[in-house]
Amino acid sequence: MREIVVTGGGTGIGAAVAAAFAAHGDRVTITGRREQVLKETAGRLGVSHVAFNAANPVAVGEALERLPDRVDVLVNNAGGNTNLDRAPDGDDLMDVAESWWANLNANLMSAVLVTSALTPRLADGGRIVTIGSIAARGTGSGSYGAAKAAVEAWTADLAAELGPRGVTANVVSPGLVVDTEFFRGRLTEEGVRRRVESTRNGRPGAPDDVAATVRFLASPEARHITGQVVHVNGGAYLGR
Ligand SMILES: NC(=O)c1ccc[n+]([C@@H]2O[C@H](COP(=O)([O-])OP(=O)(O)OC[C@H]3O[C@@H](n4cnc5c(N)ncnc54)[C@H](OP(=O)(O)O)[C@@H]3O)[C@@H](O)[C@H]2O)c1
Repeated sequence: MREIVVTGGGTGIGAAVAAAFAAHGDRVTITGRREQVLKETAGRLGVSHVAFNAANPVAVGEALERLPDRVDVLVNNAGGNTNLDRAPDGDDLMDVAESWWANLNANLMSAVLVTSALTPRLADGGRIVTIGSIAARGTGSGSYGAAKAAVEAWTADLAAELGPRGVTANVVSPGLVVDTEFFRGRLTEEGVRRRVESTRNGRPGAPDDVAATVRFLASPEARHITGQVVHVNGGAYLGR
């Protein structure tokens, strides 16, 4: 039975990824900061959960003893645009630094730290899939887009480092995905309409769209796909 770890698996895309692996007979562990949210999702899906802050090196180190001894697939999904939880930056350089650190920590450092901690436990032929964002290629997303772009650059190195062990490392980069906590309930109908208008298939993404792509990249058949960014966005950005 494969061992799958999904960070940020308590809600949204991560919960759909966890559900997809669990439905196909894999053993899944979901992580996140909110114990109660994780407990509810884990109970519903029949998976395990471990609560810790993926962006805090001490917390990641302490969580190791509760994480599986062998990992076949690591899905670095934890993240989000931390600016949605903050007042806009003023002129104070400390505010600017803190808002950038928050997005870099949530989206880049969380993936780097969990991957570094679990790499010694990764099975040969294992898989690392990190959730990026269309924001890495678009405009107007500031520190969030920059953090997701850094995830792409880091993944290219990771693929080279772990390739000799048959481990692949890829980014799945979604466009708008509804039915998640990403927008903190503040995305307006107009906001959805504008984003859907930029797609070629006229629909928003669903968590299951992303989960299906992650499962494919984690499959044995995807063994020669590594160091790539796979765009799941209805054609809103063409990654050719
Ligand atoms: N929804 C979209 O339109 C969209 C588009 C492109 C990319 N994405 C990306 O998709 C991923 C999943 O987001 P989502 O849309 O499913 O939103 P979501 O429902 O807010 O899920 C994000 C999850 O990450 C966890 N998380 C955040 N920071 C964490 C940390 N420091 N340590 C541990 N867990 C952390 C959250 O749980 P806790 O708060 O309990 O920690 C939450 O369960 C994110 O990387 C996001 O950037 C989303």
